Amino acid sequence: MAIISSQSGKTPDRSRPQRRTDDANSSADSSDASARRSSSGNNRLLRPQANSNEDLAVEDTGSPSDASLRPQSLSDYIGQRELKEVLGIAISAAQARSEPLDHLMFYGPPGLGKTTVCAALAYEMGVKMHMTSAPALEGAKDIAGYLVNLKLGDILFIDEIHRLPKVTEEMLYPAMEDYRLDITVGKGRSARVTSLKLPRFTLVGATTKVGALTAPLRDRFGLVQRLRFYETEELVDIVLRTGRLLETPVDRQGAIEIARRSRGTPRIANRLFKRVRDYAQVKSNGAIDANIAATALELFNVDPLGLDWTDRKLLKMMIENFDGGPVGLDTMAAATGEDSQTIEEVYEPYLLQIGFLQRTARGRVVTAAALQHLGYEVNLPLNLW
Ligand code: ADE
Repeated sequence: MAIISSQSGKTPDRSRPQRRTDDANSSADSSDASARRSSSGNNRLLRPQANSNEDLAVEDTGSPSDASLRPQSLSDYIGQRELKEVLGIAISAAQARSEPLDHLMFYGPPGLGKTTVCAALAYEMGVKMHMTSAPALEGAKDIAGYLVNLKLGDILFIDEIHRLPKVTEEMLYPAMEDYRLDITVGKGRSARVTSLKLPRFTLVGATTKVGALTAPLRDRFGLVQRLRFYETEELVDIVLRTGRLLETPVDRQGAIEIARRSRGTPRIANRLFKRVRDYAQVKSNGAIDANIAATALELFNVDPLGLDWTDRKLLKMMIENFDGGPVGLDTMAAATGEDSQTIEEVYEPYLLQIGFLQRTARGRVVTAAALQHLGYEVNLPLNLW
């Protein structure tokens, strides 16, 4: 395959060593990693490093079973074809020049694999990934702690990068552009700025709200890439792969039933898979088919399009209290008791994607498709029509 230049046509090699990945609380280097670095220099970017298996990237939970479901390399990664192609080119070019990757930004709704893609990038480049999240970078010291621990080519992954405090963001500008850390020593008139040279590194930012980034920060990323919702067929492949990894028999129809209800999102597909697996184990012989999957997911209140109780509450509130809209985000939040940021970043993107909501200048409106799905008559006196 063209996407992974240095390993074109390779079959996924499960014995390939994994790179270390730091979590948000620890950027401290292990002594073996430091020793490796001091002798490896630039070539480290081209060479996988021997390492233990327990350091797989973890996106959202500390659960080892979740981590084990994540694809390690880009060739194991299902879906996001265009993104993989773009990344494959960037990796080939950087490796051919023995240079680190340019700074990258991934954006898109939660659960689509921003962290997983970044971990796969680190794997392909043979470098270490340091993970943190913008809200954890409150003061200058926090980001400085990460930056001074970076080695040549390392990836610094900052989740929710749209939430960076201003002071941190401003420290990142020279770090990204000139690989320089400016530290202010002292206060007031006696304050002095001291600069520290940093190794060339790659900053990978992830966000659900690319529009909330400041232009100076956004413009410092060489590649800005969107992760899109997954097609049902891609999710079917992910569910079948999860079944193999968790040693749970699942037939294609069963996988389709789970995939259809997963809101285009692998994280949800894997979560639903585990609930269906429990149900199959307790109520049947442990194997998952279409009937078991559908019955289990109905029991868990996930409808055939993947809408849950909160989606339905949002849509019903708009239909019954506001004639279908337009309704402003804050009103939606107040009327449902949900947080407006959660509505905007978690619920709304999928409802927009399946055409159940539309955004207008005056607010959100419910569509005829949503009315039909929820069993309302479509000729209601909705404001839209
Ligand atoms: N598990 C979660 N996301 C995945 C993906 N995109 N490909 C393969 N396995 C996955």
